[in-house]
Amino acid sequence: MTHHAETRTVHQPAPVVEGSTPLGVPIYQAHTFAFPDTETMAASFQGAGSPFVYARYGNPTVAALEDAVADLEGGAGAIASGSGMGAITATLWALLGTGGHVVAQERLYGGTQALLTTLRERWGVEVTQVDAGDPAAVDAALRPDTRVLVLETIANPTGQVADLPALTALARRHGTTVIVDNTFATPLLCRPIEHGADIVVHSATKYMGGHSDTIGGVAVFADAGTLTRVRERTNEFGAVMEPFAAWLINRGLSTLGVRMRRHCANAEELARRLDRHPAVTRVHYAGLPDHPGHATARELLDGGFGGVLAFELAGGLEAGRSFAERVRLAVLAPSLGDVRTLVMHPASTSHRMLDAEGLARAGVSEGLIRLSAGIEDVEDLWADLERALE
Ligand SMILES: Cc1ncc(COP(=O)(O)O)c(C=O)c1O
Repeated sequence: MTHHAETRTVHQPAPVVEGSTPLGVPIYQAHTFAFPDTETMAASFQGAGSPFVYARYGNPTVAALEDAVADLEGGAGAIASGSGMGAITATLWALLGTGGHVVAQERLYGGTQALLTTLRERWGVEVTQVDAGDPAAVDAALRPDTRVLVLETIANPTGQVADLPALTALARRHGTTVIVDNTFATPLLCRPIEHGADIVVHSATKYMGGHSDTIGGVAVFADAGTLTRVRERTNEFGAVMEPFAAWLINRGLSTLGVRMRRHCANAEELARRLDRHPAVTRVHYAGLPDHPGHATARELLDGGFGGVLAFELAGGLEAGRSFAERVRLAVLAPSLGDVRTLVMHPASTSHRMLDAEGLARAGVSEGLIRLSAGIEDVEDLWADLERALE
């Protein structure tokens, strides 16, 4: 029997492509999946059938991104989240619960730092923060009851590079799980699991997406059992990625190699030129031979030192503010990893509530500028920076 037109508009069959495959990853903009019979549906609910039942538990476009990032990082699997913080929060929540002890590096991304403060103040988690550049300090902080060690491959804004093989070996002696935020390096420059990390987290909002048009996060697991525990928490939080974001990030991944080469080359060249400029007192970039983390970075990073650098201006607060407002090609904006060059003056924006002492504790001087090198022609970028420095 042919149904009425209004019914037929509702029940359009989903297309099934046979005999050829789409070249890119299609967007499965679907949160619910239909089944031919109750037995097949029950099997899916028990994890024995199709993994796609309801999109909070899994979606094919999102799963394609999870598989791609797990492969790049050398992990057993991955979980995509609605943002980098979604990935970090679900992971820490699953590993910690209430109580327990965490060791974290001193200068973490601000959102992770705020999360650790909440875990300490509201959930009774004990947090010890140490200089990750000093393995002896990390060793002294680790205890038999330390559940998690939180590190970043390349730290913001000083460009400190964590000696992952040494630090993960220390953590293993205490049975401590190591989480590494690999946002700044991407799996193209560093694969922390190869150096002993248990979990790698990313703000896919940054280099993976690459175009400042979407937000997302991914956590990659060396071990499938830990992935299952975190997946349960991610589902409870509902911190899942939506298919269009996964599609954009997947598309971003396909140019990550060429973009990262250019981001790194531009950052390195700008760091060298800034280092020689009379208005600049200090440049923080692990690619410079006199950076304290240069030797570790050479060992750990493959194909470049990252696209983010920071530099300090002799004129302090006013010089920093004026520089941030005088650039014309580079853009005054938060975030990083975009194809466009972005600059930030933390002392007058993100860190403006801190006095000189607070800024020093955060590793930010009054004249510090953070620059995320884009993929523009480096001569155009240098002309812009040189003019703004005048
Ligand atoms: C190193 C690092 N980790 C995590 C995050 C959080 O990512 P999202 O903003 O996607 O939640 C950021 C954001 O700036 C970051 O820089």
